[in-house]
Amino acid sequence: MINWDDLEHIHVIRKLREILSKWWHTEVFFADDRGYLRGTDPEKIKEYKNLVCNLVLQTERGSELLADYSRRCATSMKDHLDEKYQFIDWDMGLAGLAVPILIDKEFMGIVLAVGFFREGTRDKNSKILEDHLKKLNFSGQSIDEALGKIRVVNEEDLDHFIELVDLVAQEIMTFHTEIAAREERITELNKELGVRYRYDAMIGKSKPMQDVYALLDKIKNSESTVMIEGDNGTGKELIARAIHYNSSRKDKIFVTQNCSAFNENLLDSELFGHVKGSFTGAVKDKKGLFEVSDSGTFFLDEIADTSPSMQVKLLRVIQEGTFIPVGATSPKKVDVRILAATNKDLKTMVEKGLFREDLYYRLNVINIRVPALRERKEDIPLLAEHFLEKLAKERNEKKKILTKRALEKIFDYNWPGNVRELENEVERVVVLSGDEQKINVEMLSERIRNFGEKTKIQGVRVQGKLKDALEELEREMIREGLKRTGWNKSRLAKELGISRAGLIMKVDKYGLDKRKMLRKGEE
Ligand SMILES: Nc1ncnc2c1ncn2[C@@H]1O[C@H](COP(=O)(O)OP(=O)(O)OP(=O)(O)O)[C@@H](O)[C@H]1O
Ligand SMILES: [Mg+2]
Repeated sequence: MINWDDLEHIHVIRKLREILSKWWHTEVFFADDRGYLRGTDPEKIKEYKNLVCNLVLQTERGSELLADYSRRCATSMKDHLDEKYQFIDWDMGLAGLAVPILIDKEFMGIVLAVGFFREGTRDKNSKILEDHLKKLNFSGQSIDEALGKIRVVNEEDLDHFIELVDLVAQEIMTFHTEIAAREERITELNKELGVRYRYDAMIGKSKPMQDVYALLDKIKNSESTVMIEGDNGTGKELIARAIHYNSSRKDKIFVTQNCSAFNENLLDSELFGHVKGSFTGAVKDKKGLFEVSDSGTFFLDEIADTSPSMQVKLLRVIQEGTFIPVGATSPKKVDVRILAATNKDLKTMVEKGLFREDLYYRLNVINIRVPALRERKEDIPLLAEHFLEKLAKERNEKKKILTKRALEKIFDYNWPGNVRELENEVERVVVLSGDEQKINVEMLSERIRNFGEKTKIQGVRVQGKLKDALEELEREMIREGLKRTGWNKSRLAKELGISRAGLIMKVDKYGLDKRKMLRKGEE
């Protein structure tokens, strides 16, 4: 719906009204789709420059007739959308011109310019009007003067006059469309606010991360064992911590153990503890990790690296909740929540007989797969920003800025080492940039700087899954095309032979949105 009251305040519309008043001595009104006059404040009549209009409107008959014509005009224009204008005979010989306001071929209302004579002789019309006004007891010098100002709109000026009134209608349409777009943007922004940018220490607002957050929320009150799977440096440990610190055990201990670091000989003792004198070197009682973790959370990192013998032992504790310390005679009972993480494909390891199936299912009650950074590219600028800020705080200096091109390079790189690699790179450039406030492409590591170049020359890979290769090609073509067309999506969609909507979806899928890519990088 058009906000009629706002129209008064729009500069262009005010200007046009002024011009119409000055050149044609008319007053301009608006009416909605049913023809009801809008934004016409009776108080404002006094401000009308056209005194005759003012006087006629003050009469009941004059104002009623205008309202009546306006309604009739609207009704007929609604039914004849191709009608460009309509004249109305108002009152006392005065005429009006109505122009439709159409938005997306929908009739929204009319613009009315009133207070002129239609073709004919001025003298005759003036006489009629003067008589009327006199009858209404309006008289005096000013009326004579006002009558003299009333214009006769004849054939020659018609086009010009209609064009001006139509401009008012055009402005209303533009204004309305702009407002609608702005409102849409506001709702969009509001929606974005609903998107979480972080979860505890985790940064990321991409869809895959939103899914992770949603899952973390869901398991907040759960005691289940969780398996966290993901590539190197994707943030598995951060997730394990988030699970613990959002659980009912948050005030209890969180113990992390890297399973690949276990000393096979001391395994039992480390996990379950020992009693004094149970073996050489056991000079006093020692609590094992399970006991230390009692009533807390025990995070078994790199679980795929556990030896077969340890797998058996783990299974037992997880199943029974009891263990016997080395050299002890009675079992101990513990209440430990287990979280495990791996960067290997554990399922395949199970299939190959490299990992116990029973243990796998015990651990994999809830599964969280952490997306690789290349699967959530839109988080890259956000993370880079985050690390720049973190470093600035740590180093007690002003936050450095990545130039647009540097950010583009960072964005394009495929980050096999994921967030950790990104964090290290940011730290490296911050240190190397010294006093320089801006971080430019030349400061980046060679592999990142040269990434795009090589892959493009070599072309698309010819091995692996066809779907992956096709997606890679698709992404490259769109990325390159966006740059080439200056992010003109309509043009690129045409070139690629897909719909604009289709392109927009793909841009979103591959995280190629310019705004998202460069939001943080544009100085
Ligand atoms: N979403 C994230 N937001 C902010 N920092 C992150 C995020 N993910 C990872 N990091 C940072 O990246 C580094 C690696 O994270 P983490 O140790 O949790 O990864 P990981 O998956 O356990 O890695 P690995 O497989 O090598 O053990 C840490 O410094 C961590 O703080
Ligand atoms: Mg880890």
